[in-house]
Amino acid sequence: MRRHIFIAAAICFMTPAYAHNGVKDPDVMARMMSMEQIGAAFKTLVSMAKQEVPLHQAKARMARDTIVIQSGKVSALFMNGATDPKSEALPAIWDDWAAFTAKADKLTQSAQALDFTDRAALADTLGAVGSACRACHKPYRAKKK
Ligand code: HEC
Repeated sequence: MRRHIFIAAAICFMTPAYAHNGVKDPDVMARMMSMEQIGAAFKTLVSMAKQEVPLHQAKARMARDTIVIQSGKVSALFMNGATDPKSEALPAIWDDWAAFTAKADKLTQSAQALDFTDRAALADTLGAVGSACRACHKPYRAKKK
C-alpha cells in the first residue's frame, strides 16, 4: 500500500526540467536549484525502489545525503522572502514560518530514516519522504499555471 503512495507522489513532483527558466531574482533561483537537487535525488531513489535501476548503495546514500543537506537549508534559503514572478512559493510560508520550517525538518527526518537494506526496505521507507514533499507543497507551493 505504502509503495503506491510514493509512486503517486513521485509523479506529482517530477516537474519538467528547467521549471526555473526565466527567474531573475538570485535568491529565488537559489532556493529553486536546491529544490531541483532534492527532486533529482528523490527521483533516483524512486527508480531504485521501483527497480527501474538496481539498488546501488553508494548512489542511494548520496541521494539521501543530498535530501538531508538541502532540506536543512530550507529556512536559510527562504528566510528573506524573496519574490519573482516565476516563483511558486506562496505567501503563507512567511505568515506561517514555524509550521513551514517544521515541514522541512520532517523531510530531513524522513530522509534520515531511509533503509537501504534491500529494495523492499527502501520502497517502504521512501513513502514517508514522498509524504513530506506533499505535506509542504500542498499548503506552500502554488499549482502549476
Ligand atoms: C518545507 C517545504 C518543502 C518541502 C518539504 C519540499 N518542498 Fe519542494 N518546493 C517548496 C516550495 C515552497 C517550492 C517553490 C519555490 C519557488 O518557486 O520559489 C518548491 C519547489 C520544488 C520544485 C521546483 C523547483 C524549480 O526549479 O522551480 C521541485 C522539483 C521540488 N520542490 C521537489 C521537491 C521534492 C521531490 C520534495 C521531497 C523530497 C520537496 N520538494 C519537498 C517547498 C518544499
